[in-house]
Amino acid sequence: MMLDDLRKACADCTKCSLCDTRTNSVFGVGCETADLMFVGEAPGEQEDLSGVPFVGRAGQLLDKFLYAVDISREDVYIANVLKCRPPKNRDPLPEEEDMCIGYLREQVSIIKPKIIVCLGRISAMRLIKPDFKITQEHGKWFKKGNVLMTAVYHPAALLRDPRKKEDMLEDMKAIKQKLTQLQED
Ligand code: URA
Repeated sequence: MMLDDLRKACADCTKCSLCDTRTNSVFGVGCETADLMFVGEAPGEQEDLSGVPFVGRAGQLLDKFLYAVDISREDVYIANVLKCRPPKNRDPLPEEEDMCIGYLREQVSIIKPKIIVCLGRISAMRLIKPDFKITQEHGKWFKKGNVLMTAVYHPAALLRDPRKKEDMLEDMKAIKQKLTQLQED
């Protein structure tokens, strides 16, 4: 399957009730052969309206960190665990994640990133391990098959608590360094 077929399937998806309240499904954006992929939690209001992930305030902060470590948004791929916005941005329900995770798995198998960065706890708990503790384990590396995985604070958490920005910058620098290293191999 190609990414475009998957995008169409996602746009028409009725596997869970979030399809009743969404404006747009938010499939993913960026380089379809990216070595680096970011995975957030679920679309927020701006993302639901535009159909593009991480374009609201949290997304703009993510852009600043990408810029700070000299990673271009066009060179990475950005997606979410859930493709549709949960009402009032509540946490995704386990059954919604179960219904939706197949799309992300397909995206990963088509894009074949070398590194996946989970943005926040919800994504890390789904993709790295169910008991992931973001405060203790952000910036740690995990190997899953051929893919290196790590998690950083969700940019929305940085908006709520700017003291976390220092850790975020260190984690992002380490991600850039790991990426450069892998691309040189
Ligand atoms: N938060 C997320 O987790 N994903 C988005 O796309 C936007 C905000």
